[in-house]
Amino acid sequence: MKHAHALKTVAALVLLGTSLTAFAYDADWKRGRVYYRSVCTSCHTANPVGAINPSTKTKAEWAGYLLNDKHAKGKDSVTKYASKEYRASIKGSNKAAEKFADTPDKELMEDIKAFLIKGAKDGDSPASCS
Ligand code: HEC
Repeated sequence: MKHAHALKTVAALVLLGTSLTAFAYDADWKRGRVYYRSVCTSCHTANPVGAINPSTKTKAEWAGYLLNDKHAKGKDSVTKYASKEYRASIKGSNKAAEKFADTPDKELMEDIKAFLIKGAKDGDSPASCS
């Protein structure tokens, strides 16, 4: 009985450790910048929308936008365009999508978020897309 209890405690600690590690992912804003410029911006410029500079929104606006995850006026989602599935579909013609083909979706989303927040109007270094 005591043994079983100890095992449960160990299992709980392992679970906690795993979730803390996932939460503590250290976003790579440089990777986010490469992806944003190569994948997100290349589609925006090919569409009538044109480039969307990170510095057009505040940090809070970007955080809210990404949390909402409604892209193109709600037609689809931002996470869709950071997904492995999407990267696989364009990797033949997009170097960044090919390079980051195996990056977990969540990590890539965190990287993009870090770049957008850093480049926001009130961010550490307001950025343009190119
Ligand atoms: C396949 C093309 C395509 C890709 C890839 C794409 N977008 Fe877009 N995006 C659009 C279009 C089209 C609009 C404009 C929609 C409209 O105004 O009706 C848009 C609009 C936006 C807007 C303006 C607000 C909104 O949602 O209307 C933001 C911000 C944005 N995209 C962010 C991103 C980010 C971040 C990525 C990459 C993870 C991305 N987009 C990838 C096509 C794309």
